[in-house]
Amino acid sequence: MLKGKHIILGISGGIAAYKSVTLLRLLIKAGAEVQVVITPSGKEFITPVTLSALSGKPVVNEFFTANTGEWHSHVDLGLWADAMVIAPATASSIAKMANGVADNMLITTYLSAKAPVFIAPAMDLDMMAHPSTKRNIELLKSYGNYIIEPAEGELASHLVGKGRMEEPEEIVKYLSRFFASQQELKGKHVLVTAGPTYEKIDPVRFIGNYSSGKMGYAIAEEAARRGANVTLVSGPVSISTSIPNINVIKVESAQEMHDHCVNIFPNCDYGIMCAAVADYAPVEYCDKKIKREKDEIPMIKLVKNPDIAAKLGSIKQPHQTLVGFALETNNEEYNALDKLHRKNLDMIILNSLQDSGAGFGTDTNKITTYFSNGAKIEYPLKTKAEVAKDIIDSIIKK
Ligand code: PMT
Repeated sequence: MLKGKHIILGISGGIAAYKSVTLLRLLIKAGAEVQVVITPSGKEFITPVTLSALSGKPVVNEFFTANTGEWHSHVDLGLWADAMVIAPATASSIAKMANGVADNMLITTYLSAKAPVFIAPAMDLDMMAHPSTKRNIELLKSYGNYIIEPAEGELASHLVGKGRMEEPEEIVKYLSRFFASQQELKGKHVLVTAGPTYEKIDPVRFIGNYSSGKMGYAIAEEAARRGANVTLVSGPVSISTSIPNINVIKVESAQEMHDHCVNIFPNCDYGIMCAAVADYAPVEYCDKKIKREKDEIPMIKLVKNPDIAAKLGSIKQPHQTLVGFALETNNEEYNALDKLHRKNLDMIILNSLQDSGAGFGTDTNKITTYFSNGAKIEYPLKTKAEVAKDIIDSIIKK
């Protein structure tokens, strides 16, 4: 799986840097092309000479070579890589990556990397357990980075606890599994809806909701990472995606979203309906701003919008899988199961506004999935990127 892959190995300054030499050797042995980028303190633990001899490439550690003025482009490196692995990642480098403190070549390369990033923390147990480290790691997860959890064991301080960098053999296995997973949806077409819909009342007002699109975009990105061709039909949101195999179709109203989905779904293998579609729209659009009159309160007559998920459920073919969401505030399980059956879905993902950190706008979500065969899986609160992985894992298993 690693043969021919371009991998940036980022090394920051911790005692576990000695393990990076083994990691580098294993990556090269597996057929990868490796470019080492090291921080100034990383060089205190392991010399660039060793690393460049093993990788067959000069180690990058400065923005430019002092005597020639040659500029080392972190942007080019970021574009070259199929993956970036930072091992060891110290508390300091983790904090810098989480907060964009671009004061060395490793961090600038990280910020420029378009490829997936794998981070193997290594530090003393108290540093690992500190709320600021925990928060920074959560931030990195929310950016879609992969954290290769440190193991428990004896640390450089001779204390025993969580903080030992994962063994190089395990990191290589982790990467191999990742590249294998990128083939899982190869050749498949996935339709995802995301965001709210806006139902226009007049040129300045609409009926909408608080959906930010974060959940739907995370699902589209995860499906694309697994090799799928993704069509993302998105309501008005302020986020975007730059993953090449996602075709984004921007819509505003439920009717527009419906029309695109009905056209696209017949050519899809999977449909994942994450949008918070407005159930009603004004019967009439007033093309002039409705004025505030003295005593009169305007009446806005509403009409039911088409139910996109139900429509796709009615035209679904046996080879297709259709997944819906249920955003509930009460009677959660009952309502979710009702939607699962009524809309002819194969799976429904319940998120409840009763759970803090779940639902609209947050970077996290807490879901329970229900399947048409009666199975149910409850998940803890996770980042939306991780929730998206769980959802894609579920549909692949199905
Ligand atoms: O965008 P975020 O801020 O990240 O928030 C994510 C989310 C909370 C919007 C998302 O996780 C979610 O729950 N999406 C579905 C919200 C919703 O409208 O739920 P619902 O229970 O009203 O709808 C049930 C299902 O039918 C959904 O799959 C919905 O997309 C679909 N539907 C609903 C109405 C309609 N007219 N057409 C539909 O297709």
